[in-house]
Amino acid sequence: IKVYVPLDSGAVALGADEVASAIASKAEKIGADVKIVRNGSFGMYWLEPMVEVETPRGRVAYGPVSTDDIDALFAADFLKGGEHKRYLGRTQDIPFLKSQSRLTFQRCGIIDPVSLDDYRAHDGLTGLENALKMSAADIVKAVTDSGLRGRGGAGFPTGIKWNTVREAPGDQKYIVCNADEGDSGTFADRMIMEGEPFVLIEGMIIAGLATGATKGYVYTRSEYPDAIRIMNEAIDVARSAGLLGASVLGSGKAFDMEVRMGAGAYVCGEETSLLNSMEGKRGVVRAKPPLPALQGFMGRPTVVNNVISLCSVPVILEKGPEYYRDFGMGRSRGTIPIQIAGNVKHGGLYEIGFGLTLGEIVEQIGGGTATGRPVKAVQVGGPLGAYFPRELFDTPFDYEEFAKRDGLIGHAGVVVFDDTVDMMKQARFAMEFCAIESCGKCTPCRIGSIRGTEVVDKLERGEEPELQIELLRDLCETMKFGSLCALGGFTPYPVLSALNHFPDDFKPRALDIA
Ligand code: NAI
Ligand code: SF4
Repeated sequence: IKVYVPLDSGAVALGADEVASAIASKAEKIGADVKIVRNGSFGMYWLEPMVEVETPRGRVAYGPVSTDDIDALFAADFLKGGEHKRYLGRTQDIPFLKSQSRLTFQRCGIIDPVSLDDYRAHDGLTGLENALKMSAADIVKAVTDSGLRGRGGAGFPTGIKWNTVREAPGDQKYIVCNADEGDSGTFADRMIMEGEPFVLIEGMIIAGLATGATKGYVYTRSEYPDAIRIMNEAIDVARSAGLLGASVLGSGKAFDMEVRMGAGAYVCGEETSLLNSMEGKRGVVRAKPPLPALQGFMGRPTVVNNVISLCSVPVILEKGPEYYRDFGMGRSRGTIPIQIAGNVKHGGLYEIGFGLTLGEIVEQIGGGTATGRPVKAVQVGGPLGAYFPRELFDTPFDYEEFAKRDGLIGHAGVVVFDDTVDMMKQARFAMEFCAIESCGKCTPCRIGSIRGTEVVDKLERGEEPELQIELLRDLCETMKFGSLCALGGFTPYPVLSALNHFPDDFKPRALDIA
């Protein structure tokens, strides 16, 4: 009997390893023939550790399971899918999962992450096999026609970036996967690297075929040890199977890749800083131009793409660009893995076509706050994203619609706060975060963020409040237009959105006491 217990680090943090051992020892004790498969997570973190059992009616789930539940689960005949208070029914019928459109994450949770056979058995590598029969220009065209835009946050069209690299002169080109997922509340990159690493490998090989790059790097953070271990294991499997190396699947075309580990600076997620870090230099931002597409890693033409952008490519090559672009709205085509976090009942990853409203995401899918108190603010797009009040809950999840309302969807992290949040403290936090993480290359960010925290402190103490608000706005203007990269340039988003949507929170505290 196959029993699935996730190896995903989110599930492990909640006790999945202990649950797996407890099931194994109980099964041994009673002589039950159990094979435990460590799968990825389906992304329903409030149900983790979620244990599944293969039954004649499909995989059935139990969760959240703790070691204290194991005896009772065996007593309830869970190996045959028996009823128990943790019983969730068939996995595929759980409403949170059933209502998604899983294209990028289609196998995450279903397969054994490091089994290439399992990946193939679920239609893996079909996109690559198709790409191997196409010209580089046709692969780029398919990705361009799909409407795929950079999922790291900036939303730049992936096909156009690939074409710049394809046309750039150079005998050595590189594919660099930006897996330095630093946004608060985001975990999509980690989840797919731990749950379905072959889709990233496949996407990177296709990017290599499309641009003429023969070497790839996955740059990720030291805080992701499980993702690093699983990616390395999958790369070894891929190499032994002839998927990576001098002749990809016997095609005569070369591609190989490796994982590089950063030391955890937020700014190393910025592409030029990342390249400096990979070259062994200090992680400071480089001025653009030149674009990395023309002069990137070691000065060579380089594609720098986020994990999710690359993982979305295989399905485009498998099912065609029209299939992919049929999902979504406006200029935001395809699907987006929304990561719902913070003070929310159903925290997890929800992949769907663009266009759901923020209110639907927070209230219906996320189930509202975990505390049961009213939602006050939702920060979308990481620590550099704007805070949205309830009045803007009708905003559709779409790059342009968020920009129209002075926000950004970024890497699609949604962090929910209830009515106990203090927005002046959140504005201060944004400035403080920028001050701590600034690479120091440009003045508006390096000095401006420190001045920003001081101004908010003065405001809190009630020192000339009107002047401080004017200064804060002026400072945000300077940082927005004068900073070299998005860290300093986007810090004004959380600060100004807090100020504009929640002015009552910016009243001096001294006056409140009076
Ligand atoms: P950007 O707008 O400067 O560039 C976007 C991408 O397009 C870059 O890779 C750039 O090199 C490329 N590009 C631009 N013109 C091109 C051309 N003509 N040909 C080829 N490539 C071209 O944005 P940037 O600074 O790369 O990213 C900012 C975003 O990063 C923000 O929107 C933010 O949401 C996101 N972000 C994401 C984080 C995460 O954890 N995923 C963390 C922090 C920020
Ligand atoms: Fe460095 Fe900040 Fe300037 Fe970016 S904005 S280059 S992080 S100092």
